[in-house]
Amino acid sequence: MRSVSIKDKVIFVTGSNRGIGKSFVTQALAMGAKKIYATARDKSKLEALLALGGDRVVPVELDVTKPEQVDAAAALAGDVEVLINNSGMGTGSSFLAAADPKKAQLELNVNYLGMLRMAIAFAPILKTNGGGAMVNILSISSLTNFPFAASYSASKAAAHSLTQGLRVELDGQGTLVTGVYPGPIDTDMAANLPYDKESPDVVAVKVFEAIAAGTEDVFPDAFAVQISQGLKADPKAVEKMQLDNYNAAQK
Ligand SMILES: NC(=O)c1ccc[n+]([C@@H]2O[C@H](COP(=O)([O-])OP(=O)(O)OC[C@H]3O[C@@H](n4cnc5c(N)ncnc54)[C@H](OP(=O)(O)O)[C@@H]3O)[C@@H](O)[C@H]2O)c1
Repeated sequence: MRSVSIKDKVIFVTGSNRGIGKSFVTQALAMGAKKIYATARDKSKLEALLALGGDRVVPVELDVTKPEQVDAAAALAGDVEVLINNSGMGTGSSFLAAADPKKAQLELNVNYLGMLRMAIAFAPILKTNGGGAMVNILSISSLTNFPFAASYSASKAAAHSLTQGLRVELDGQGTLVTGVYPGPIDTDMAANLPYDKESPDVVAVKVFEAIAAGTEDVFPDAFAVQISQGLKADPKAVEKMQLDNYNAAQK
């Protein structure tokens, strides 16, 4: 079993200026990580983390849709042992409410292609540094389509498939590839969702505990656990529940 402890490790977290990404950085600091590359599209938004982490936090400008920035990040961060692909965005669109596929393209470009760009750039670095871990932040909507975020769900389903494929391709170099499937988490992204929400700090701690235990699939909150159990027991019933929710919202 591959297990990766955060203590004394060099970590790279995409999208760390807010939300779950910020919690990954603060919790990695608390757990004794050696160095954390914290990234943001706008580096000035990392000031609070720099103040907290001092020399252990290295700020990196990174938009995962820009190949030249992904390559520059990989050139800078050749000592990374744990890559956390956390960056993500959602337009909150159903498929047919969008006038054209532009929103779906945006979501795919960040949530799927952005993760793929990062994997291509950082897989050789993880190999050089002993295998390490790649942690991909997916969503419970990777596994069942949520109509209020339909094209986002499709992009996260693509990222789930990417994660399964990377697990196969990176097996030979000893990299633990972990997929994380959260339900509603208390960040800007879920601000308008009418559900109980888990704290992003709890998600970060559970993910670090999971990779220390060599876990490949992480369901870090009660909502995600409930849906994943439903999918194991009766996948069609979960799909029909989405239909019922959609029809109820139309009334
Ligand atoms: N919150 C939830 O309920 C929930 C549930 C399931 C999965 N997730 C997933 O968890 C991850 C973190 O989301 P969150 O809840 O923390 O959302 P958030 O608060 O909206 O944060 C999203 C982060 O991703 C960054 N980002 C967006 N587009 C980017 C790009 N092109 N390049 C690089 N970074 C980019 C954002 O940077 P800017 O500040 O520059 O926009 C921000 O740092 C995402 O992958 C999301 O899909 C969240």
